[in-house]
Amino acid sequence: MGGIVVVGTQWGDEGKGKIVDLFTESVDVVARFQGGNNAGHTLVVGEEQTVLHLIPSGILHRRVKCVIGNGVVIDPEICLEEIDGLKKRGYLKNNKQLLISDRAHVILPYHKLIDKLREAKRGEKKIGTTGRGIGPAYEDKMCRVGIRMGDFINASRFKKCLEAILPDKNEYIRKVLKGSSIKMESLLALQRRSAKKLAPYVTDTSVQLDQWLRRGKQVLFEGAQGTSLDVDHGTYPYVTSSNTVSANAATGTGVGPNTIDQIIGISKAYTTRVGSGPFPTELIDKIGQTLQTNGGEFGATTGRPRRCGWLDLVVLRHAIRTNGLTGIALTKLDVLSGLPKLKVCTAYRYRGQLVKELPADLTRLEQCRPVYTEYEGWTEDISHIRDFDDLPKTAKKYVQQLEKQLEVPVVLVSVGPQRAATFFCQQIFS
Ligand code: IMP
Repeated sequence: MGGIVVVGTQWGDEGKGKIVDLFTESVDVVARFQGGNNAGHTLVVGEEQTVLHLIPSGILHRRVKCVIGNGVVIDPEICLEEIDGLKKRGYLKNNKQLLISDRAHVILPYHKLIDKLREAKRGEKKIGTTGRGIGPAYEDKMCRVGIRMGDFINASRFKKCLEAILPDKNEYIRKVLKGSSIKMESLLALQRRSAKKLAPYVTDTSVQLDQWLRRGKQVLFEGAQGTSLDVDHGTYPYVTSSNTVSANAATGTGVGPNTIDQIIGISKAYTTRVGSGPFPTELIDKIGQTLQTNGGEFGATTGRPRRCGWLDLVVLRHAIRTNGLTGIALTKLDVLSGLPKLKVCTAYRYRGQLVKELPADLTRLEQCRPVYTEYEGWTEDISHIRDFDDLPKTAKKYVQQLEKQLEVPVVLVSVGPQRAATFFCQQIFS
């Protein structure tokens, strides 16, 4: 019915921002369905670089409507900062271009404080969260003590919610986490500062999306993070607090799953991960450093260096299955240029046994050793190439082997950060 979902297949940072931006040229609406400002998209349009954490990157295309769905958790101040920043640069001239779900939950200062204090308390066992309060906000949602956007923009309803919640939060902060209480007045002041400005965007986005889909509009559902960070299907507990897989595109925006007809998984030509947790193909050597430097592997949200490693097909097969991928968009192939040999992990070895599926048990995963297939690299700079057939023979082979082993077509290859540094291997949009 006109829905296409884009998800990350690894541990996030696969280059979704660029691909979503590119696909946006062919769609009418872009909707985010999970996560919050833990995500970060760096977009390079012409000479200009824009980093967005919350608002879909589609906002840079004036004719495209952008939706922040009910499954997203929203930090009101960050949201306003992004709105103001976009307006200052001449974007978002029409307020109707952005729609925020009245059912989306709000991240408040106590969520951020709890996130940070907990991480500090965990010490070496920390998850390595972004410290943006994402987990605590989702916890409140599930615990049915969260505050939704519709309540936040209404001063008296917001105050009533806080009166019921804040004493418990402060007791937990003081007694368990040994932190300082958050004052009611500071939260009310935050509401006064931001609610009026956010209110024009807040609406029932499920109803609006339904109307657009019925009218034949093409909707792009933009995932954040990646499948291995999914709270159910990722490397739990070293995951984020939402479902990052494609099925959540429906739940997180309030549309039926039958509105989705394509699911594209974004994968880097190698693997990266930020934060803690197992990473079987991690390279703690010169090659890892080369990937980090050549790939500019530093977080758009926290600036943290990303851990780098070889491409892992066990991780990708898991993503194909849990998302129902119909195609793969392969990014950053250019970063591999100059490496004489390339390795791809096809399975793991665990206590002498071959393991082909990602184990749920992390202690087992930590002991898994990658089984590699080696490929010849290429020395040429490929960043100017705009046609698959013009790639060096060894680069073509690298991509073709992936398709063969994964049994999912590579629909697009990206060879540089600019929009133009991309070529389609298969038509996605009619
Ligand atoms: P949280 O989402 O801030 O709770 O962090 C949980 C885990 O997800 C940490 O390992 C983060 O580094 C990771 N994470 C969250 N958002 C992103 C992202 O957009 N890209 C990559 N990793 C992320």
